[in-house]
Amino acid sequence: MSLDYAQLAEWDKEYVWHPFTQMQMWNAADPLIIERGEGSYLIDVQGNRYLDGISSLWVTVHGHTHPILTQAIKEQVDKIAHTTLLGLANVPSIQLAKKLVEITPPGLTKVFYSDAGATAVEIALKIAYQCWQQHPDPQKRQKKKFISLEEAYHGDTVGTISVGGKGSAYATYRDLLFEGYRVPAPYCYRCPLGREREQCNLACLQVVEDIMAKHHQEIAGLIIEPLVQGAAGMITAPDGYLGKIRGLCTKYNILMIADEVAVGFGRTGTLFACEQEGVSPDIMCVAKGLTGGYLPLAATLTTEAIFNAFLGELREGKTFFHGHTFTGNPVGCAVALANIEVIEQTRLIRHIQASARLLSSELKRFKALRHVGDIRQRGLMVGLELVRVKQTKEPYTLEENIGHQVILAARRQGLIIRPLGNVLVLMPILAMSGEQLQQVLAITYQAIKNVTEKESL
Ligand SMILES: Cc1ncc(COP(=O)(O)O)c(C=O)c1O
Repeated sequence: MSLDYAQLAEWDKEYVWHPFTQMQMWNAADPLIIERGEGSYLIDVQGNRYLDGISSLWVTVHGHTHPILTQAIKEQVDKIAHTTLLGLANVPSIQLAKKLVEITPPGLTKVFYSDAGATAVEIALKIAYQCWQQHPDPQKRQKKKFISLEEAYHGDTVGTISVGGKGSAYATYRDLLFEGYRVPAPYCYRCPLGREREQCNLACLQVVEDIMAKHHQEIAGLIIEPLVQGAAGMITAPDGYLGKIRGLCTKYNILMIADEVAVGFGRTGTLFACEQEGVSPDIMCVAKGLTGGYLPLAATLTTEAIFNAFLGELREGKTFFHGHTFTGNPVGCAVALANIEVIEQTRLIRHIQASARLLSSELKRFKALRHVGDIRQRGLMVGLELVRVKQTKEPYTLEENIGHQVILAARRQGLIIRPLGNVLVLMPILAMSGEQLQQVLAITYQAIKNVTEKESL
């Protein structure tokens, strides 16, 4: 029996404060209320089915209600739902840590758990900072600042906004944030240095090196979203960029923090994005796809050398002072283990690579759309930048809210996607079939055309 939509909608507006949402706008519309999921589909309380084109905010790996992942949760809950990692260990958190060390880039040997992408990054920043503070050489203890990329997104906590792009969150909370160095994003479509990709010779990296050369004595770490700056609008870095960043961090003794929260677990076509340029970061953050999108769990991995910097007698105060109530939650860890097992058993990475090829060949026809200015893709991460005038790259205004209009048109045809400003994002479920992908593309194409070229639906 379907739940009473009208009653739920009323209660939603009365009691729920939605994330990143202007509630005045939200309350003026009818909410879509999801009740169930099935493979690549979301099903609302009225029984309507929608393809999940954003993987429920970039997390779903094998699909919704996958029997093996569901079973792993049930089995673990039958044993115990939660026990603390403060003063105790638990079985799945041990097994998962071992597995993560085995599958992540070489050199990462220790796992610190938390429950969201932002906490994983917050932990990474604190580890990097404290690590230098405990250095035997007093000179090195001056290394307190971070380099981050313009347009970056690492979460919504005070620490993660501090290393994020200078968007509205930065402006709003500016007085609470810590200062650091920002370097241009490799946003080739609108190059911040005004260069053309063909001749630029990665000039943006020279800016990074200049800052490092001048200030390395005070820089603890550099944080980067490997290969794709997701929330910035799927800004895809040119080949070689990530590897060169790694090289510069090594050259100037700066810890490299790879935020693989969005790109990890297959999203870009390899299990981790760093693999594509043979990069081993000093610290790596994972979340989102870690549990296949089933439960909130995150992990921050570090090298042995970093871990060792925290060893000492109690009185030395070198303990890492961080923890959350649900750190290492056994149910989250159990489903993460099942997720990784299914990734391996189904050879999901091969499937993703085939799907990525399909996407890239099908996306070619989007170039013909009058208002698609740029098409960016890495694996199963796609950004379609909509522009008012293609030739001049003139953007749509905020008031036009063009991305939102397009996703509403797509929703009417049975597809859930979300825009990032004027960039339409396609983040299909990683295990989605070719046929479903074709459907995602067909609906998106038509929705863009109908809304931007003002044809009637
Ligand atoms: C690269 C990156 N880092 C961190 C986060 C924050 O993750 P969470 O929303 O789980 O805190 C996100 C979320 O989109 C992200 O894309």
